[in-house]
Amino acid sequence: MDPMSELVHYEIRDQVAVITVDNPPVNALSPGVPEAIEAAVSRAAKDPQARAAVLIGAGSTFIAGADIRFFETIASRESSIERSHAIHARLAHIENCSKPLIAAIHGTALGGGLEFAMACHYRVAVPAAKVGQPEVLLGIIPGAGGTQRLPRLAGAAMALEMCTHGQHIPAERALAEGIIDRIIAGDLLSGAIAFALEKAQSGGVRKSREIEEKIQPRAAALAACTKTREALGKTARGARAPYAAVEAMEAAIELGFDAGSAREIEIFADCVLSTESHAMVKLFFAEREVAKIPDVPKDTPTLEIRSAAVVGAGTMGGGIAMNYANAGIPVLLKEVTQEALDRGLAIIRKNYQSSASKGRISQQQMDRALSLITPTLTFDGFDSVDIVTEAVFENMDLKKTTFADLGRVTKPDCILASNTSTLDIDEFARASGRPAKVIGTHYFSPANVMKLLELVRGSETSKETIATGMKIAKKLNKIGVLVGNCFGFVANRMVAYYMREAYLLLEEGASVQQIDQALVHFGMPVGPFGMQDIAGIDVGARIRQYLRSIGKERSEGPQSVVPDWLFDMGRYGQKTGAGWYHYEAGSRTPIPDPLIDDLARKAAAERCVTRRAMTDEEIVARITTALANEGANILDEGFALRPGDIDVMYVHGFGFPRHRGGPMYYADTVGLKTVLDRVHRYRAEFGDYWHPAPLLEQLATAGGTFYGRSRESRPRELAQRSH
Ligand code: 3HC
Repeated sequence: MDPMSELVHYEIRDQVAVITVDNPPVNALSPGVPEAIEAAVSRAAKDPQARAAVLIGAGSTFIAGADIRFFETIASRESSIERSHAIHARLAHIENCSKPLIAAIHGTALGGGLEFAMACHYRVAVPAAKVGQPEVLLGIIPGAGGTQRLPRLAGAAMALEMCTHGQHIPAERALAEGIIDRIIAGDLLSGAIAFALEKAQSGGVRKSREIEEKIQPRAAALAACTKTREALGKTARGARAPYAAVEAMEAAIELGFDAGSAREIEIFADCVLSTESHAMVKLFFAEREVAKIPDVPKDTPTLEIRSAAVVGAGTMGGGIAMNYANAGIPVLLKEVTQEALDRGLAIIRKNYQSSASKGRISQQQMDRALSLITPTLTFDGFDSVDIVTEAVFENMDLKKTTFADLGRVTKPDCILASNTSTLDIDEFARASGRPAKVIGTHYFSPANVMKLLELVRGSETSKETIATGMKIAKKLNKIGVLVGNCFGFVANRMVAYYMREAYLLLEEGASVQQIDQALVHFGMPVGPFGMQDIAGIDVGARIRQYLRSIGKERSEGPQSVVPDWLFDMGRYGQKTGAGWYHYEAGSRTPIPDPLIDDLARKAAAERCVTRRAMTDEEIVARITTALANEGANILDEGFALRPGDIDVMYVHGFGFPRHRGGPMYYADTVGLKTVLDRVHRYRAEFGDYWHPAPLLEQLATAGGTFYGRSRESRPRELAQRSH
């Protein structure tokens, strides 16, 4: 092998030049890589020993795209445009190679990776390979000709789908859509070389820039753009990048390749410098950083999870059991009465049937998952499972009794997990007699859907248990975030403030619909009241009842009585046909209910609150300020390791808009000084319960940001609850 550079190798095999990108871990197009690929293609073109060339990736993947770490170094629109012109010129040079050039794809060809592959004349892939233009998930558009070459290969509709959603397309579909040309079942390199020789024989060089038929007739292709733009009104929720991708695609169709490329370059520059992109890039790295726990090294031993059990077949318990079954892990599901067990199983079956009817899973997958769930009324079989998750009512005495039972009936190394959303897991841990094995695993409703798993570290939770918890999250296709054991942990501790402000805004004069709509326009999938109608008003009410019985409230400040009145009226949300909204039988469409306004007026009168009209901006500012201020307290107290951990939780647990980065990054973009000023203003207007978090004050005064906070001042270990 003749190394062209450390990053790209060149060798001749069977009269074919093999160009191997070797930039671990994902062969990103870091500085030096595009240059070296171009040089290798030039060399192959001139090399008398080479009849064709193959571009392939070393290690586990083809090129996974541009090196995202370098986006932050793009300082201006001009420098972005200059860089993009350079990369477009390189790709044109590669495409103009006189000998057939074949991209051989395994793993993933994403973003710039697919763009390099499309500048090759043909593409072959292993069956498990995936291709995609996921730039939109980073707040940008494909910037190396992706919006121009992809519609020419796959047609406008497919290219629009890929560039506006960013999903990874499996090889088989990519073949059907014309993105790749052959699937290689055996050894990829051998297959690619054979394919290259075939093309050398037939003299075939095909440039995707020259293919026009797939974007003809133009009117139809442009109509696909219009249709996509309209559909984005529902799904993009305030993000700009998906619309920018449509705009670039329109340029591809209307202007031709060269002018279209020039337009793509300009649009890319606008996007890459946007707050949206900065937020999404931060989130990309935060999503990976959550797996890194400073005092739990990567090589910490973990327990193999081969079987599981769940105690409690209510909404959460059933959803948790579904997670295990979906991951192929057999799970016992225990309830106290046959009636409760039957009810729980019926809901599980209904959930699977709904997924099957929508085509999300096959009948076979549904049958297999159901066969892995074993209902039971006893602890029989608990002595052999590797993990038990308790999902009984949020009541300390009940949980302690359950953990005492679990300590008795399970094997010594079994992990004992609790789905508590607020309570002190150290108390259950002590009750179990095996505190090192106890960890909080807080799922989010619906537990079988939401990606977040909030893992709670107790004072005696062992590193092995934590590492196993993180591994389980991955196995269940969730994002595990480890937090400290404070009241409400991180997710619900902050949500308590989010909801407090929503309730108070309602009493002060905003309507349920206005508050929900303001948050939906901000980018949330559903507003606070709609969310509660889905999760169940009874859940929060029962937690409040329990907390009051022990002299606590979920948040500081005035507690609205309206949610408790709804609970007393049996209005639990969608499941009872009425909550904050009214629901027609069998429908989930929220219908405004004048009764809520009456209740809000009554509550306001009781608290002597003068009602007034307010703007959507005021609503969003109050709610997001409350989140950021409490988030700052959590960070300062050391119950979350990093601001990114909080953001990942809010994006994956509550649907906080990705393009805003999460509540902490969003506060950074608003400006911490502005956030602090708001807290002071609210304090003057509403009372001392609005007091600034010390960390917010400190950073705002110093002109800093949550993300810019120095590593040295961050905790290395999560804090523990003081008893
Ligand atoms: N740039 C820089 N680093 C990257 C990267 C990239 N494009 N892709 C992955 N990495 C890093 C990750 O940060 C991680 O680093 P760490 O180990 O220090 O935490 C490491 O590579 C491994 O990544 P994952 O943990 O995500 O590994 P997986 O095996 O789970 O997933 C993957 C691999 C599917 C490639 C996933 O990493 C991924 O989706 N990467 C991003 C792909 C992408 O968005 N590409 C488009 C980039 S934008 C672009 O190309 C613009 C162009 O149009 C000009």
